[in-house]
Amino acid sequence: MKIAPSILSCDFSRLAEEIQAAEAGGADWIHVDVMDGHFVPNITIGPVITEGARRATALPLDVHLMIEAPERYLEAFVKAGADSLTVHQEACPDLASTLSEIRALGVRAGVAVNPDTPLDAVRSIVTDVDLLVIMSVHPGFGGQKYIPGSSEKLRAARSMLDEMGSGAELEVDGGVDALNASEVADAGASVLVAGSAVYAHSGGAAEGVRTIRKALGR
Ligand code: DX5
Ligand code: ZN
Repeated sequence: MKIAPSILSCDFSRLAEEIQAAEAGGADWIHVDVMDGHFVPNITIGPVITEGARRATALPLDVHLMIEAPERYLEAFVKAGADSLTVHQEACPDLASTLSEIRALGVRAGVAVNPDTPLDAVRSIVTDVDLLVIMSVHPGFGGQKYIPGSSEKLRAARSMLDEMGSGAELEVDGGVDALNASEVADAGASVLVAGSAVYAHSGGAAEGVRTIRKALGR
């Protein structure tokens, strides 16, 4: 089981420390939420801050592009140090070519689906991705509640990956915390993104990660 803290909920005035605290707590990846104010109603960070995160840790940077026409920025994020680039199915008219462009840049390719997007929308490409991300909140903000029914979608995604012979990791993103961590793991997620559960934890980010790990028991 991998835990990928989302820095969206961290104190950006102390970005490096916050990333290193999550790492000290046992984080496996660092999840970087990029938003453009078009694909989602929020603007967050871009390649420059991603580069800052790159300098703060050697952990894989799991970059989540919640932006329109992500193909315009793939190179910039790879140069900034992304280890994987996840694009949204809903933002890519030619998803297959965007995913192969990501792989051609030498990083892992991920595809994310929003809560209202059926899994069938990505069935044909799951053998061409390294990561399938199931959004368990409507993208745009941290601190939202896990949408009930997301665990069923995770289960269905897990069997779709198995059925299609895909080796992709299954990531769940949004509203994950120590209370639902084992539920989402049992549903088949192998990567858990957690933003507010880590960075709003009263004991700090390291404690936040440890609490989720303890709840997972793996
Ligand atoms: C939402 C982002 C998520 C979010 C997770 O659009 O993709 O990664 O930051 O934060 P929490 O865990 O607080 O829902
Ligand atoms: Zn995300």
